[in-house]
Amino acid sequence: MSKRLFTGMQPSGALHIGNYFGALRPMVELFKDNEGLIMVADYHALTSLRRPAQLRENIINVVADYLAAGIDPHKAVIFKQSDVPEHTELAWIFDCLVSVPFLQQAHAYKDKVAKGLEANAGLFTYPMLMAADILLYDTDVVPVGEDQRQHVEYAREAAAKFNLAFGPTFKEPQELIQKSIAIIPGTDGKKMSKSYGNTIPLFGSKEDIAAAVMNIVTDSTGERPENVYAIHKNFRSEAELESLYAENKGKYKILKEALIEDIEKLLGPMREKRAAITEEEVKRVLKEGGEKAREQASTKMKVVREKIGVSLN
Ligand code: TRP
Repeated sequence: MSKRLFTGMQPSGALHIGNYFGALRPMVELFKDNEGLIMVADYHALTSLRRPAQLRENIINVVADYLAAGIDPHKAVIFKQSDVPEHTELAWIFDCLVSVPFLQQAHAYKDKVAKGLEANAGLFTYPMLMAADILLYDTDVVPVGEDQRQHVEYAREAAAKFNLAFGPTFKEPQELIQKSIAIIPGTDGKKMSKSYGNTIPLFGSKEDIAAAVMNIVTDSTGERPENVYAIHKNFRSEAELESLYAENKGKYKILKEALIEDIEKLLGPMREKRAAITEEEVKRVLKEGGEKAREQASTKMKVVREKIGVSLN
């Protein structure tokens, strides 16, 4: 049976191939058979970003990336959080239902405090804004990475607390955990992550990609460069790779060149598609998506306002 999906992503800069295999490609598949929404979490981004020009650029880019990777805006409603004020409105209501100790258990907040840093109040209540994102749309399933599992649990808790206080209103959503992006190790063999500086860019030029591949760390003892192989197996069947790597034992350069070619076969056409997407197109997609999302969200909020007693009719 078709499920209602909802997912969000932070507009936080250029995507890498780990994001593609770990999140983007599975999402493209999911949205072929299910309906739902994809939200750019621009208000969530404000918990850490204070550069307006950068935020604007990131929002446009992330939407263009998703479109180029194959998300069809006729199937998935693509919108940005700030275009639907019902999100922040509902988040406030959830804030009033949960306790401080409950929010203190959130990983993102705890990590910040553990590092001796001061968390802003937005970071502290982040899980309730995310709960509002998800619950406004009667979501069944939330496709996310492992790092977001706890946030979906928070959304369920928020739904349960509201339903208990005011009567059945919100569906309790389930997370669908995408296989970790650890399936794609970075160029140093650790998990691919922007913060480690070990990524292969998804929409980089062919030269950028070649440079990243040439940088893959190989040990001088083994016959098979494991770090190259581990990335390569996402681009070609293991049966084919076995023979390629057997024929080229110890020839790291040749194997890396083969990997560059295989990456290019997949990413070349995507890069072309990406280059053809204009800012106007992105803005139009977001505008249309925002209108559709708002229609649903405002219907839901009408019910919520009645239940909590702020509507007078
Ligand atoms: N917190 C998510 C992240 O950092 C982004 C996000 C915001 C989200 N709202 C959401 C994800 C709702 C799923 C559902 O990646």
